[in-house]
Amino acid sequence: MTGKFKRTTITSALPYANGPVHIGHLAGVYVPADIYARYLRLRGEDVIFVGGSDEHGVPVTIRARKEGITTQQVVDRYHNLIKESFERFGISFDVYSRTTSDTHHKVASDFFRKLFDEGKLVEQTSEQFYDEQTGHFLTDRNIKGECPRCHNTDAYGDQCEKCGATLSPEELINPYNAETGNPLVRRATKHWYLPLDQAQPWLEEWILNEHKEWRPNVYGQCKSWLDGGLKPRAVTRDLEWGIPVPLEGAEGKVLYVWFDAPIGYISNTVELCQQHPELGNWETWWKDPETRLVHFIGKDNIVFHCIVFPTMLKMHGDYILPDNVPANEFLNLEGNKISTSKNYAVWLNEYLDELPDRQDELRYVLTANAPETKDNDFTWADFQARCNNELVAVYGNFVNRALQLTQKYYDGQVPPCGSLNDFDRETLNEFDGIKSRLENLLDNFKFRDAQKEAMNLARIGNKYIADSEPWKVIKTDPERVKTIINISLQLTANLAIAFEPFLPFSSRRLREMLQMDTFNWEQLGSTTLLPAGKQLGKPSLLFSKIEDDVIAAQTKKLEDTLKANMEAEYKVEAVKENIAFDDFLKLDIRVGTVLECERVPKMKKLLKFLIDDGMQKRTIVSGIAQWYEPEQLKGKQVLFVANLAPREFKNGLVSEGMILSATNWDGSAIVTTTLSNVKPGSQIS
Ligand code: MF3
Ligand code: ZN
Repeated sequence: MTGKFKRTTITSALPYANGPVHIGHLAGVYVPADIYARYLRLRGEDVIFVGGSDEHGVPVTIRARKEGITTQQVVDRYHNLIKESFERFGISFDVYSRTTSDTHHKVASDFFRKLFDEGKLVEQTSEQFYDEQTGHFLTDRNIKGECPRCHNTDAYGDQCEKCGATLSPEELINPYNAETGNPLVRRATKHWYLPLDQAQPWLEEWILNEHKEWRPNVYGQCKSWLDGGLKPRAVTRDLEWGIPVPLEGAEGKVLYVWFDAPIGYISNTVELCQQHPELGNWETWWKDPETRLVHFIGKDNIVFHCIVFPTMLKMHGDYILPDNVPANEFLNLEGNKISTSKNYAVWLNEYLDELPDRQDELRYVLTANAPETKDNDFTWADFQARCNNELVAVYGNFVNRALQLTQKYYDGQVPPCGSLNDFDRETLNEFDGIKSRLENLLDNFKFRDAQKEAMNLARIGNKYIADSEPWKVIKTDPERVKTIINISLQLTANLAIAFEPFLPFSSRRLREMLQMDTFNWEQLGSTTLLPAGKQLGKPSLLFSKIEDDVIAAQTKKLEDTLKANMEAEYKVEAVKENIAFDDFLKLDIRVGTVLECERVPKMKKLLKFLIDDGMQKRTIVSGIAQWYEPEQLKGKQVLFVANLAPREFKNGLVSEGMILSATNWDGSAIVTTTLSNVKPGSQIS
């Protein structure tokens, strides 16, 4: 290991046990953390990879109320589901525990107690909203009331969704409990605060000067927090679910979830070291300055891991601080935001059931599209294309050719390598630098580029074997074929090592086929990994094609969810203000027959109609092209406003009226017509 470090503690954000994990979590946190852990282990370094479920906080209690079960039942269910899914997916945690464990309760409360005893926390009483009927203090998001600006009675304690105003709960008129509807009163309550303001000077020095190498998104977010000036943050809450505040007179108060959860990394290490004495004392992994601490997280967790938790560690004393926090941006899904509460996601457990034995395919695509520098989009079409065009057609195809030919020509024994020609040398040269290139990228958390580099090695192999055409040369120069196959097999063995951190399932199968019992990172780049005469195992395909129907089923599932959500959210608009009958009579609505209907070049939304209005032909332009093919409307009778002043569009097109359509709950337009045909020009009244 480079520099001053002897070992590495890798943590990955503890997922809330309020739902299964989805591809956003995987791409942002667990896949990169796992790649890194596997890479370091392959290099023979001392490393622990710590995970676990975050089982406190408000989200789990909301879920429990929604499902009508206890909070404990919720966290049990999701902790088990998450843990099992991670195992099936090959996330190689050394420990995966939970924040409801006894060890964690003790470690977290001792941590708080020490800060309190040493006078490092600030005690402060403030007024908060309280529901006298349920006996609960409420969080901002659980408070609703009338917006002081637009008088919408459904405004939240932090924002009015109608007029967009940012609010604080005190500003609401007649605040009430969002869940029960009960009116709220203000009541004094005591809490303990972490004085981040006091930590500001050393945080500035530590992050802004000493960690300029952090990813720009991480560094930038920290800088803007610091520039804004840090304020003390409450680390306790008035809630029932959580770790009780270990102080007298603090009944009904628990540690804030963001105080206890990161301590979970420490508690889980304690549990790990209890179970594995060979790892030594847990303190080595958290207090020895020769230990390197790395947190893998998503961007919404940056402030907690770069500012709050380090402040806690530093105030506690003795602890090391993170050396790096490679946070990722977000992954979207088919252009939409992933959402646990709206059930819009690709859930890991469902993926594992519905696309069995395809862990590496998902790992590959999530890394290829990793949101390392900006938000990225996962689409099933891209998933299929990458699997079929890259994993199957390049990596799988190359390996399969090399192994099948070895089987066919040499009964599965590695042939000797003869003299090299220019093409051989060129090929071998190309993968000469692979080890240092991969190291450079992996050490800098550039997993996307690193995987690309590994795939490039497969491309080189694929090209080598395709251009060398051993299946032709075998007829004219069988000696030469031995060399071609030997080189191809050496490349294959290198791929098994290079892909191990990224695609552990196929790497392991490949090593079985190659009978590589022992392997390590140092061997990467070697051209003599498989000695001549070695008997190889039986070849089988590393990857198989993803068929269209699999993709169609997944896409449909997502579309169905979107539709169901929109339907659930659809609200009937309030009726507009009354108008006088005379005003109604001013409207001239008529029936017309569609003579022609066509799309408008460069105007995606528009359809151009030629309407027979009973007296003449008129042109009407309507923004419904998204919902109809022109052919569907030709010959149909439609209702239109006949006396609307002509309107001109950007491209000079003039619309002489308006076709009436109903707006459906999903936003689509449905053109209106009469129950039976009438003469064009008939008036509607
Ligand atoms: N549960 C949090 C989330 O999903 C992450 C907690 S990370 C920890 O955003 F450090 F607090 F554990
Ligand atoms: Zn408002």
